[in-house]
Amino acid sequence: MTMPGMQSTDMQSTDMQSTGTQSTGTQSMGRRAAPEAFTSSQQDPRTFLAPLDILEGDHARQHAVCELLDQLVRNPRHAAARRELEVVRDYLVCEMPLHVADEEEDLFPLLRRRCPKTDDVGEIFDLLQREHDIDWTLHRALVQNLDALIAGAALADPTQFIANATAFAETQRRHLAWENAVILPRARRHLSAEDQAELGARMAARRGLAMPEEPA
Ligand SMILES: [Fe+2]
Ligand SMILES: [Fe+2]
Repeated sequence: MTMPGMQSTDMQSTDMQSTGTQSTGTQSMGRRAAPEAFTSSQQDPRTFLAPLDILEGDHARQHAVCELLDQLVRNPRHAAARRELEVVRDYLVCEMPLHVADEEEDLFPLLRRRCPKTDDVGEIFDLLQREHDIDWTLHRALVQNLDALIAGAALADPTQFIANATAFAETQRRHLAWENAVILPRARRHLSAEDQAELGARMAARRGLAMPEEPA
């Protein structure tokens, strides 16, 4: 299957098989953003005093991860590919599950309760929940692909990696558009300071962090 905007040569198995053997390099990153910026788990409990800012920052990093996936699909042999594969893999394994749990277990239930009955967003929450479920199917397949590439192993089906990466990025972008346009603005409008404090405390606890006694 050829994805829009991709060259047929991108799909050659030799490209994918050799990706995992590329050396890590920073010089060639050039105009690329520093990958480290995409994987900064919040370790300072004070940041959880503004939990909606954290979620918004997570979304910005998710966009950046989608950009990296686009680049890896277009050119899996560039010199920084190995590092980018690791960044995307680390994000998918370490950060994404926490973010989804923040939303599914805390933000969405809280916001469902706080949105006025006239603000009919129930279907959007249901849609986002279904998309989270789809994400995990793609997530598992994509992590397996990334692990193989990072290890320098040949992919059994390089075309499937391209399909997985492209589908994941497309799904994520649509999902992020809904959350940024509909969910976060309503959260800022309808969640009280106490709600946000409770949300931040639960998000911090999920990461094993204790909230500070007083705002910094
Ligand atoms: Fe999100
Ligand atoms: Fe989400």
